[in-house]
Amino acid sequence: MGFLLSNYQLTICILCSLIFRLSSSAHLCHNDERTALLQFKQSVSFNCNACDCGIITPPTDNSSPLTDNWKEGTDCCAWDGITCDNTTSHVIGLDLYCMCLYATIHPNSSLFNLVHLQKLDLSRNNFNHSQILPSFGRFTNLTHLHLNYSYFSGPIQSSEEEVWQGNNFSNSIFHLQKLQELSLAGNTELTGKLPSFINGTLRHLRSLDLSLTGFTGELPNSIGQLEFLEELFLNDCNFFGTIPTSLGNLKKLRMLELGGNKLINGTIPILLTNLTQLISLDLSYNKFEGPIPQHFSNLSQLRRIDFSNNQLTGPIPSSITGLPNLHTLNLGSNSISGTIPPSLFHLVNLTILDLSSNKLSDTVELDTFAKLEYLEYLCLSNSGLSLTTTNSSPSSFRNIGTLQLSSCKMNKIPEFLKTQNQMLAVLDLSNNHLNEELNPLCNLHFLQYLKLSNNQFGGLIPTCLGNFSGLVGLNLQGNNFSGTIPQTFGYASILKELDISHNGLQGVLPRSLVNCTNLEILNVGHNFIEDAFPFWLENLDYLKIIVLRDNKFHGPIEQPRKGLVFSNLHIIDMSHNEFTGTLPSKYFESMYSMMMDDEDKSSLHYMGNGYVYYSVTIMNKGLAMEFVRIITILKAVDFSHNKFDGNIPISIGRLKALCVLNFSKNSFTGPIPLSLVSLTELESLDLSQNKLSGEIPQQLKNLTFLEVFNVSQNNLTGMIPRGKQFETFSNTSYGGNAGLCGFPLSKKCKTPKVAESPSLPSSSSHNYKSRLDGFGWEAVLMGYGCGAIFGLVIGSCIIQRKEEWLARIFRVKMHHQKNKSNKVKYQHGTR
Ligand SMILES: *[C@@H]1O[C@H](CO)[C@@H](O)[C@H](O)[C@H]1NC(C)=O
Ligand SMILES: *[C@@H]1O[C@H](CO)[C@@H](O)[C@H](O)[C@H]1NC(C)=O
Ligand SMILES: *[C@@H]1O[C@H](CO)[C@@H](O)[C@H](O)[C@H]1NC(C)=O
Ligand SMILES: *[C@@H]1O[C@H](CO)[C@@H](O)[C@H](O)[C@H]1NC(C)=O
Ligand SMILES: *[C@@H]1O[C@H](CO)[C@@H](O)[C@H](O)[C@H]1NC(C)=O
Ligand SMILES: *[C@@H]1O[C@H](CO)[C@@H](O)[C@H](O)[C@H]1NC(C)=O
Ligand SMILES: *[C@@H]1O[C@H](CO)[C@@H](O)[C@H](O)[C@H]1NC(C)=O
Ligand SMILES: *[C@@H]1O[C@H](CO)[C@@H](O)[C@H](O)[C@H]1NC(C)=O
Ligand SMILES: *[C@@H]1O[C@H](CO)[C@@H](O)[C@H](O)[C@H]1NC(C)=O
Ligand SMILES: *[C@@H]1O[C@H](CO)[C@@H](O)[C@H](O)[C@H]1NC(C)=O
Ligand SMILES: *[C@@H]1O[C@H](CO)[C@@H](O)[C@H](O)[C@H]1NC(C)=O
Ligand SMILES: *[C@@H]1O[C@H](CO)[C@@H](O)[C@H](O)[C@H]1NC(C)=O
Repeated sequence: MGFLLSNYQLTICILCSLIFRLSSSAHLCHNDERTALLQFKQSVSFNCNACDCGIITPPTDNSSPLTDNWKEGTDCCAWDGITCDNTTSHVIGLDLYCMCLYATIHPNSSLFNLVHLQKLDLSRNNFNHSQILPSFGRFTNLTHLHLNYSYFSGPIQSSEEEVWQGNNFSNSIFHLQKLQELSLAGNTELTGKLPSFINGTLRHLRSLDLSLTGFTGELPNSIGQLEFLEELFLNDCNFFGTIPTSLGNLKKLRMLELGGNKLINGTIPILLTNLTQLISLDLSYNKFEGPIPQHFSNLSQLRRIDFSNNQLTGPIPSSITGLPNLHTLNLGSNSISGTIPPSLFHLVNLTILDLSSNKLSDTVELDTFAKLEYLEYLCLSNSGLSLTTTNSSPSSFRNIGTLQLSSCKMNKIPEFLKTQNQMLAVLDLSNNHLNEELNPLCNLHFLQYLKLSNNQFGGLIPTCLGNFSGLVGLNLQGNNFSGTIPQTFGYASILKELDISHNGLQGVLPRSLVNCTNLEILNVGHNFIEDAFPFWLENLDYLKIIVLRDNKFHGPIEQPRKGLVFSNLHIIDMSHNEFTGTLPSKYFESMYSMMMDDEDKSSLHYMGNGYVYYSVTIMNKGLAMEFVRIITILKAVDFSHNKFDGNIPISIGRLKALCVLNFSKNSFTGPIPLSLVSLTELESLDLSQNKLSGEIPQQLKNLTFLEVFNVSQNNLTGMIPRGKQFETFSNTSYGGNAGLCGFPLSKKCKTPKVAESPSLPSSSSHNYKSRLDGFGWEAVLMGYGCGAIFGLVIGSCIIQRKEEWLARIFRVKMHHQKNKSNKVKYQHGTR
């Protein structure tokens, strides 16, 4: 009995506490809303790796406040991310920013039961390509909607489930009458057009951010109706057409960012000068043409102007100085001409100035820029300016961190560079007429990137450079350096790029380089280096490019000593040396990067060290091609002009991603390996001037990207393959092989094999050019071929925006590739 009673009492107690808890929570949190939230929690999974939290580092263990804190029977108003109305207790705010949510949002999601919501932030999660459903239209009281960087996709839909076309919608996020802030940024797969803003659509909007989406169409003139708009971010979309004049009505606008649409054209409208509250104006990477308007003096609040990468002409207007607070002025990569207005030097607060790649015609004393005492970033490369340094003072440019003065016709190193400078991190003096010794630069201990290529610097390479502990990139290409390479390289073990090609360097490759474990590009080509094959490079796991071209390297290349070597290699050029012996087939078995022809072609990556993109010259298609930037899918092997003999290893067929293969001018014997048919990306194959015998494998016509094919001067026999690309090669491809017959040679085959009817060259090859033209978003999404980026001239100094953004977006994917080098420096705007 006593037992029963106590059990009874216990039950009462449990009931009591339950009732207490229910009543207390009922007081605060509405049951239906708690249920909706818990259902929502049930419907999602947690995966931090699938989300891009930007600068925030999400937890690694997939724990989320939702899992810890959102519990049945507790007051939902006290849960993380929830805000309730103080009087009605309804859930009015849901903030799930970067909560590692990974889920698909269906129309039946309980999320849409939270109809009292006023602020909804789902940004920086992964909604798995969900569409932004008409159900979002149920949040009629919503004032803030943030869905940025959350993998939403597709068109924004209206309640009739129609693809939203601009007018005929009755219900969509664009119909939320109270909306003040809308951010859909960073959902690259999201498409749509801007609505027509008449009849009060989004009339209360203060901030609209559609940057980095697939939004397209023209900017509607009705945008001028959004009279409360303060921030308009439409950068990095696919908008086209001209800027509507009504934009001049948006008197409250502080941020106007239209950069990176490539197709917005016309002149920069004068009406923009009506926007007197503007702080940031970004029109970069479009097709604006004509002169910069004169009337900037109205815009006294402006802190940032970015007009870079357009087709602007005419002079820099002197009225630009009516902007006294200007912090950033980027006019790079236009066709701006004339001289620098003296008033520009009155912009005392200027910290970033980029006039690079223009057509200015002025001779300026470099120290004139030193009047801008807060200047941190100065880029005048290829601007057309001639810089003198006669009055150069040792104490100028105290705050300068980045100084890029390539092609400025300078003939003397500025004095201030010869004194201690703790700020300077990036120095580019390439393509000038400097012919001093480098020792005076030994003070610049803090340099991270130094580019002095294509000058006439002479003498020894100073040993001090090897002691710069922060040095990431050193490019001394194309000077008159002589003597041996200092043994000090290796202490600077974070070095990623070492390019000392095209000098007069002698001796051996310093063994100390083996300590540069981060090295990605090693270019010592065109010197007089006399050494055996530097097998110890095997230890450098991140090496992507090795160029030993045109030196006196000699002797055999033995089989690798380790199992996994050169697995990240993209380009190896050992041509024009005196290597002997057979090719070490095992090397080709571990060059994994050259095997992966599936390497992320959906997105565009260049190789760079975080400051600049790498460049390299390789023989491609019979020409020396300078790749001013190296797209990561370019893979090349060049062993030409050596004394290799023996058979071409069959294992070369494993390098499926190869674009360029050159084994010419050696003494290879035996047949052309059939395995070459696996190299389906190949654009250039040169096996000429060897002693190859046997027939040309008929299957090679499967190489549909092949543009150059050369097997001349061998001992080949039999019928030349016909069909596809082989219809395009001329007889120079085959000359000097007495035994070859058939088209295009005049010699007929005696016993023709079953002649296949020649088919036309495959269209994919002819796509090559169009792939090149299509450079841009579209092309990014389509995918690239090997050479697509050849010839693209480096734009402004700031590492290109789109790729930075891309790198950010695709960061998640890149995680899985363990590809350290794809990190690129991100330049912040004034957001
Ligand atoms: C609701 O109450 C909290 C705490 O008492 C207070 O900080 C907040 O300002 C109140 N909100 C409103 C809208 O009254
Ligand atoms: C994401 O979408 C794919 C394809 O629609 C589906 O198979 C998968 O289950 C979804 N994952 C989540 C977490 O919703
Ligand atoms: C919601 O819809 C999805 C797909 O239509 C379905 O898989 C899921 O079971 C539904 N959930 C509920 C709670 O009805
Ligand atoms: C929306 O806000 C209005 C005014 O504050 C209020 O009367 C109405 O109840 C709210 N509607 C919802 C669904 O919360
Ligand atoms: C994304 O949304 C958040 C709000 O969660 C906002 O703070 C941020 O500025 C938005 N924009 C970007 C580009 O992340
Ligand atoms: C705007 O309102 C007018 C008059 O009510 C109507 O005729 C017109 O169709 C509306 N336009 C849109 C885009 O809704
Ligand atoms: C620009 O401002 C001037 C003077 O305030 C005004 O007359 C003109 O209409 C404005 N232009 C636009 C396009 O708003
Ligand atoms: C701007 O581009 C549109 C197409 O997007 C074209 O019709 C128009 O002629 C161009 N205008 C100028 C000034 O180039
Ligand atoms: C430069 O910046 C400082 C501090 O931000 C400010 O006080 C000063 O007014 C600015 N100078 C000019 C000319 O705007
Ligand atoms: C590599 O660095 C270590 C220590 O920093 C040094 O002892 C060694 O001699 C270096 N190796 C070469 C080959 O210079
Ligand atoms: C060549 O291509 C055809 C069709 O694309 C394919 O069937 C054949 O297997 C390929 N041959 C080789 C050797 O890969
Ligand atoms: C060419 O090949 C044939 C066999 O196909 C061989 O007899 C001959 O010696 C070779 N000539 C040269 C120059 O290698």
